[in-house]
Amino acid sequence: MKKLLLAVLAGAMILAVTTSNSFAAGNYWDKWTKTISLDIFPDCGVNVLGAGGDDILQATVDTYCGVKPGGYVGYVNPKAVDIYKKKGSKYPDGKTAVLVFKKIGAAFTTDHKNGEPVYDVVSIKDGKSIASKEAKHPLNPETCANCHKGFKDVCKKLGYLCGNRL
Ligand code: HEC
Repeated sequence: MKKLLLAVLAGAMILAVTTSNSFAAGNYWDKWTKTISLDIFPDCGVNVLGAGGDDILQATVDTYCGVKPGGYVGYVNPKAVDIYKKKGSKYPDGKTAVLVFKKIGAAFTTDHKNGEPVYDVVSIKDGKSIASKEAKHPLNPETCANCHKGFKDVCKKLGYLCGNRL
């Protein structure tokens, strides 16, 4: 019995060490500046316009409600925070912003390359891309671009970010 208990304890310790190790590795945005956040992602059919949302947020809810992504927290690269706060439109090349969906273990990422936005979806656990290649899929970078670069230029005016529009 004692041996069994020890084995269980040892197992728990190995688990604890492994978990804390993978946590320690962290994500590149961990120390970035927090921006927007939402505790619970609205269900499909919910109208966010009455709750102070605008029509692009409504379109976002309609696009992602089916994914049931849970709440999110946004982060912006400290190098870009000044531009973000001033609602500037030109971001330097490099990593710009992320929107982290903890519940589904995914992060929406926005980088800039030659002044143009580059969108991706990565796994929080290992940073690997989990973006979809399926046309019109909510996690296809083209879907991100259609909204962030299109949609009445709402996000385009903000350097293709969008959380600082209100
Ligand atoms: C239908 C429109 C729409 C689609 C599609 C969309 N977004 Fe967004 N995105 C928004 C809006 C609106 C916000 C701001 C949300 C808020 O105000 O809470 C936002 C916020 C963000 C942010 C946070 C920016 C900040 O200001 O902190 C990132 C990063 C982002 N989106 C990347 C993506 C990626 C990557 C995809 C595709 C996988 C995507 N978006 C798909 C509309 C969209």
